[in-house]
Amino acid sequence: MLGLERTPFAPKRASPLDAIPGSDSLLELPRLLRDAALFLHERFDRHGRVFKTRLAYPVVFLIGEEANKSILVTRRHELSFGLGYARTAVKRIFEGSIMLEDGDAHDRTRDVLAPAVGKLAIRQCSSQIHAIWSRAAARVRGRAADAYELTERSTFEVAANVLTGLELGEETEAFRPYFERLIGGIMSPIQARVPFGPLDRALTARAKLVEMLRPRVLAAREAAPVGLLGQLAHHEDATGRLVPVDDVIGHLLLLFWAGYDTTASAGSWVLHELARRIDWQERLRAELLDVVGDDPGGIEGKRELEQVSWFLQEVERMYPSALFFPRIASDDFHFDRHVVPRGTPVFYSPYMSHRDPATFENPNVFDPERWSPARGERRAVVGKLVGFGGGPRVCLGKPFAKQQLKLMLHAILSRYRIEPDPTCRPRIQTIPVHHPIQSRVFLAPL
Ligand code: HEM
Repeated sequence: MLGLERTPFAPKRASPLDAIPGSDSLLELPRLLRDAALFLHERFDRHGRVFKTRLAYPVVFLIGEEANKSILVTRRHELSFGLGYARTAVKRIFEGSIMLEDGDAHDRTRDVLAPAVGKLAIRQCSSQIHAIWSRAAARVRGRAADAYELTERSTFEVAANVLTGLELGEETEAFRPYFERLIGGIMSPIQARVPFGPLDRALTARAKLVEMLRPRVLAAREAAPVGLLGQLAHHEDATGRLVPVDDVIGHLLLLFWAGYDTTASAGSWVLHELARRIDWQERLRAELLDVVGDDPGGIEGKRELEQVSWFLQEVERMYPSALFFPRIASDDFHFDRHVVPRGTPVFYSPYMSHRDPATFENPNVFDPERWSPARGERRAVVGKLVGFGGGPRVCLGKPFAKQQLKLMLHAILSRYRIEPDPTCRPRIQTIPVHHPIQSRVFLAPL
């Protein structure tokens, strides 16, 4: 019997996956790579909230508020976060990082990272972030600038300067090509280190980045525990032991990766949408000037910037920075009437869940007002708005990212009107990071 199973003629063993609608065609991956948003819409329309597909291996997508609640909160113990990322090149590039951990190990690392991206650290670097965005806006004033290129450069500078303590200019520019090589390795289809392959280049670049960051971390150890790097460099565990320097560097690289391109994505959508909505520019400008005035350092701790929050939430809903995230079923996972067998990758999708008409009225319409109390969609429901994930593993950098987007809005709207370039024909990149392409905007001085 066992011998028969191993022959190529053995009948395929029945699996609960057979009962899940979808396809396991080898063509699924190229289709997803061509346009991941269209891929998700087509399968959601055809199969509903549970479907299977084949990427490098069979995968089950679970969509919608209930699925998100199960994956992120109520049934999260039946899924592994770490093994989900370990199926990707993250395993080699961010070895030993929070992305590969579960359980107690994850809790301990989260405790180490939390103060670095906490309220105090954020308050300490608000002026620095605002200055970077003000200079970025001044650089492109009066001429057409690509929305994503503008935000990508600025969030890179923020991460380099504020997070890792690199000097802006030459030092940051020297860091950039190595960091790009590191990120380039994440999409590597194979995890073996083939000489000169993307993973090999990424790991070589990583060694160089570690060398570049070491003096910064050592200097931060000697200085006061101020800002993100300062908090991390001075962090002590329960026994009073400082985090080893190599671990601090590993955390910095992970935070850099997790935080810079995602924030650039959100920022580019903010500019893209605002350029087409002069009324919202006026509303947000008036609110920012009324609540914050000229002192950007004061954004944190002021009364809520209500309309700014609606706008940012609507960007998170319509344009989450990544369309889906992985887990692995550590046991048979039951959802709805389906069984996802143990060991199967399970993906949740902020993008498709946010477009589910059962959760949001007119889900494909950009409508920040939907978040106003009068409209009632604002009620906090677990699993409803998950652009930053949710539950105990909600994005650690969410307050930092939101703060940066508010500072970006203040730096730009207090001085400029944003106009779309009428000659551009924007398109959309869906993976790895979701952003508009060729969406050019003018910053016209007020
Ligand atoms: C608009 C910007 C951002 C978006 C949309 C975003 C989104 C996300 C999402 C969806 C997750 C959960 C992934 C999952 O469930 O598999 C996550 C986790 C994480 N994010 Fe962010 N992120 C952003 C910015 C940042 C920033 C600025 C930082 C740090 C400086 C950061 C650090 C992290 C970390 C460390 C985790 C893992 C948390 C854990 O596993 O406990 N992110 N992020």
